[in-house]
Amino acid sequence: MRHLFFLLIFFILQPVASAQTGWQKTFDHGAVSSADQLASEVGKQILMQGGNAVDAAIAVQFALAVTLPRAGNIGGGGFMVVRLADGTVNTLDFREKAPLSASRDMYIKEGEYQSRLSKDGALAVGVPGTVDGMVQAHQKYGTMEWKSLIEPAIKLAENGYSLSYSQAAGLNAHLDRFRNYTGASVYFLPKNDSLFSEGDLFVQKDLAQTLTFIADLGRDGFYAGEVADEIVNEMNNLGGIITHEDLNKYESVWRAPVTVDFRGYKLYLMPPPSSGSVAIAQILKMMEPYPLEEMGFGSADYLHVMAESMRRAFADRSFYLGDPDFWEVPISELTSVEYNSERMNSFSMDSVTPSETLSHGDVPGYQESTETTHFSIIDRDGNAVGITTTLNGSFGSHVAVTGAGFLLNNEMDDFSAQPGVPNMFGLLGGEANSIQPEKRMLSSMIPMIATKDGKVVMVIGAAGGPRIITAVLQNFLNMAVFEMDAQQANAAPRIHHQWMPDILFYDRLTLSPDTIRLLEAKGHKLRPSSVARIHSLMITEDGKIGAGVDPRGDGYAAGF
Ligand code: DON
Repeated sequence: MRHLFFLLIFFILQPVASAQTGWQKTFDHGAVSSADQLASEVGKQILMQGGNAVDAAIAVQFALAVTLPRAGNIGGGGFMVVRLADGTVNTLDFREKAPLSASRDMYIKEGEYQSRLSKDGALAVGVPGTVDGMVQAHQKYGTMEWKSLIEPAIKLAENGYSLSYSQAAGLNAHLDRFRNYTGASVYFLPKNDSLFSEGDLFVQKDLAQTLTFIADLGRDGFYAGEVADEIVNEMNNLGGIITHEDLNKYESVWRAPVTVDFRGYKLYLMPPPSSGSVAIAQILKMMEPYPLEEMGFGSADYLHVMAESMRRAFADRSFYLGDPDFWEVPISELTSVEYNSERMNSFSMDSVTPSETLSHGDVPGYQESTETTHFSIIDRDGNAVGITTTLNGSFGSHVAVTGAGFLLNNEMDDFSAQPGVPNMFGLLGGEANSIQPEKRMLSSMIPMIATKDGKVVMVIGAAGGPRIITAVLQNFLNMAVFEMDAQQANAAPRIHHQWMPDILFYDRLTLSPDTIRLLEAKGHKLRPSSVARIHSLMITEDGKIGAGVDPRGDGYAAGF
C-alpha cells in the first residue's frame, strides 16, 4: 500500500520535474530581472513591442523611479554596461558629481568630521546623473521614441500602484526622517499621518508632471526650466550647494570597460569610478591558481581563499581607487597576474593575515598624486544591458524636491570625507577618493556582462554597498566553477570581507557550525550580516534566457 502511494506521488510529480529547468525561470526571446515586478513588466512590454535592451533599460530605470523610491531614481545616478549582439561593449557612467563649490573638508568642522552632513539633508546631495545618462543611452542605442519609454512610468506615477508589504515597511522605517524636510513630508508621509500599509494606493502626481517634462523636453526637462528651478530652490532653502551651473554642466561619460579573463570566460565590467571592476579582477586573479572545485562550494578552505583575496583587494581599493578623471588609477597593473600573485605571497592556507598587518600593495612606479538597485535585460537579438542605479542610502538624503516630487541622493557620503574615517558602509578611503569640485565619488556598484566563446552567458549586478562587489564575484564563481543556474547562484549563501573592519561577514544561518569552527581556527572573526541583492540573467546551454532574482528581496523576472 505504502509503495503504491509513493509510486503514485512519483508519477504525479514526474511531469512537473521534467518541465523544470533547474531553479531558474526561463524565457525564449527576451527577459528583465529587476527588484520590482511592475518595473520588470514595463521592460518586458517594451521588449515585446520590438524595443531593444537599451530601450527596455531606459523604461525600467524610469519605472523604478516611481515604484522603488528608496533606490530607483531620477535624483541619483548609476552605471550601465551594454553589449550589443555584434560583440561591441560600452559602459556609461552617469554617476553623480560633487557640486562646483564642494571642497575637500566640507564636512569637517573644527577638526571633527560631521558624519551626519554627508548622509542626510541637502549638503549630502551630489549633482544627479540619471536623466542625462538615459538621454545619452537613448541617443546612442535607442530605437523607440524617447517619450514612449517614459510613458509607462508617468502612468504609474499618475494612477498610483499598491504598496507591497516591504515597500510599506520601508517607507514606515523612514517617516521620522521624511518629517524633517518639507518636500519629503508632502510626498512620503501617509495621508492620515499614521503608517503605510500593504495595499495602500501610492500616487505621485508631481513626479508624473516632472516625468512628463522629461518626456517632452529630454535633458532640458530636468537640468533646465521648472524642475531645475525647483531643485535649486530646495537647495537654497535647506543649505545645499547645487546651483543652476552645476545642473547645466552635468554630463555622463562613455568609458571603455575593464576586461578580465578567467578560465575561458571574458568579463566586461564597469571601470572606475566603480571600484568593483578592479576588485573583482584582483580577487579572481588571486583565486585562480587554487583548486576551487576540489575544495568544494562552501568549504572552509574555499571561503578562506576567497576571504583572504577579498581582504587584499579591498586594502588596495582604499588606496588606489578614485574618479579616473581626477586621479590616475593603475588599472592594468592592479589587475595583472604578476601583481596579484605577489599580493598572495603573504597568504597562508592555515591562518588569516590580520588586516592591521596588511596595507595596500606596491604598484611599481606608481606616483601618489594625491540602497541601490540593479536590473539585467537581454532582448531577442541578444543585446544585453545591466544597470545599477542608486540614491546611495535608502531614500537617499531624504530631501525631496518640492513641486517636482522626487528624492535626491546622499551620494556625497561615498567620498572619503576624512581619510581614515569610515563611511556609512565602514569603507576607508584616502586621497584618491577625497572631495573635489566636479569629481565623482568612488562606487562599489558593478554591473557586469560575462561572455564565453564570444557569446553572452551572464548579465549581473547587485545592490548592497561594498557587498555588491563580493556578491557579484561569488555569483560568477557559482556559475563558472560550480555550474549553478541563475536562481541557484543568487540564492546560494555568500560571504563578505572588506579588509576593514577585519570581520568575515556571512549570510545568517548559512554556514554550518563545523565550517564556522574551521574558519575560526584559521583566525577569522565571523559575524552574520546581510549580503546584497542580485538580479541576474544567464544563458542556458540550450540557448534560453535563465532569470535569477534574489530571494533576499522583492525581485521579479518577466520575459517572453
Ligand atoms: O555606489 C556605491 O557604492 C553606493 N552608493 C551603493 C549603495 C548601496 O548599494 C546601498 N544599497 N543597497
